[in-house]
Amino acid sequence: MGGRIATYPRHVGDRAGTIHPMTAADLIDRFGSPLYVYEEAGLRSRCRQLVAALPSCALLYAMKANANPSLLSVIREEGLGIDAVSIGEVMRARRVGFATEQISYNGNNVTDEEMGAVRELGVHVTVDSLSQLERYGRLFPGTDVGLRLNPDIGEGHHDHVITGGPEAKFGVDHEDIEAAHCIASRHGLIISGLHQHVGSGILEVDRFVSAMEVMLKVAERFSGLRFVDFGGGFGVGYKPDEEDFDVAKLGAEVSHLLARFRAKEPDVVFRFEPGRWIIAPCGTLYVTVTSVKRGKRHTFVGTDSGLNHLLRPALYGSWHAIENVSRPDAPAETVAVAGNICESGDLFCKGRAVPKPEEGDVLAIRDVGAYGWSMASSYNLRPRPAEVLVRPGGPQVIREREPLDAINH
Ligand SMILES: Cc1ncc(COP(=O)(O)O)c(C=O)c1O
Repeated sequence: MGGRIATYPRHVGDRAGTIHPMTAADLIDRFGSPLYVYEEAGLRSRCRQLVAALPSCALLYAMKANANPSLLSVIREEGLGIDAVSIGEVMRARRVGFATEQISYNGNNVTDEEMGAVRELGVHVTVDSLSQLERYGRLFPGTDVGLRLNPDIGEGHHDHVITGGPEAKFGVDHEDIEAAHCIASRHGLIISGLHQHVGSGILEVDRFVSAMEVMLKVAERFSGLRFVDFGGGFGVGYKPDEEDFDVAKLGAEVSHLLARFRAKEPDVVFRFEPGRWIIAPCGTLYVTVTSVKRGKRHTFVGTDSGLNHLLRPALYGSWHAIENVSRPDAPAETVAVAGNICESGDLFCKGRAVPKPEEGDVLAIRDVGAYGWSMASSYNLRPRPAEVLVRPGGPQVIREREPLDAINH
């Protein structure tokens, strides 16, 4: 064992030449396997790239991507706000120190109790259906509220993450705007902001800009809007031939569009809510090989982790780079990397060339900072892994491995 790990994972802008002196084996020896490892400098760098690309816009980190409090603190220090989708997320953001006005809440199919609890914390609510608007109006007449739109455009890396268009459960159809106005006026509500999020994993800037244009057209039918929120969905290049969504290009392409709208609505704040783009490339899941089964059709490389720790490959067929950091120079072998969960779909990859893995090797599964730990579970009653943040002063545990006792009650 002992491959050196580049602590600035791929895709991180300022990674040039920065190699942390710890090896993957050191990290595993110290903190155990499997292990989520994040890199602070890369996270700060991603936040700064966004701020530079979209000046004069509000950037709200979609904390569903990864809600570890230590990572949220770094993001807060970089000046971003929060996009929250549940009362739990709102409470976590408040606990980490985000001010109420830095938090935007837009829940889907939420209860009256949840809307009330969010309002009680002083956080602005955006609703995403006419019936929710009606209920909100009955409960909180004479207040202001945001409205999530479905612009009839959907984008994304998989059907499950396309959140706009006719198949999506989210948002008010853009043809129902008049009905929304009627409900609002019946309850004395002020629709103070518009929101949309068309999907996740978008790599082409032009497609995102098209959705923004639709949104701005609808927004022209409102007056006195305080915010127009274009959502998140900026993709990252998980595969070697893919590039990250180009945030600098987005900033350049939309500046005139935003300026034109702002000329009519000078007080409007434009918002974006990226999650994945900010944090996916800053995280690696290190797993240890527990068995190698060279079968008739496949070589299954078994590991001490699984879909309970990283669901994306099983849920979406997602591709993550997998490196053998213990033996990077070994000749490649075509393998399936599997987990230890009782599901046939518990595979991190299949038919992938990886430097020939042996029992005890450490494999690095890259770009798992977003929707990795945050979607992890204790399925099969296997505890969730620890999380470590590599800071300038060295690695720090930011979440302990889940104790077996915690899942045995
Ligand atoms: C409303 C909303 N905003 C933002 C996001 C963040 O998406 P991404 O992580 O792809 O940027 C999501 C993801 O599902 C979302 O539902």
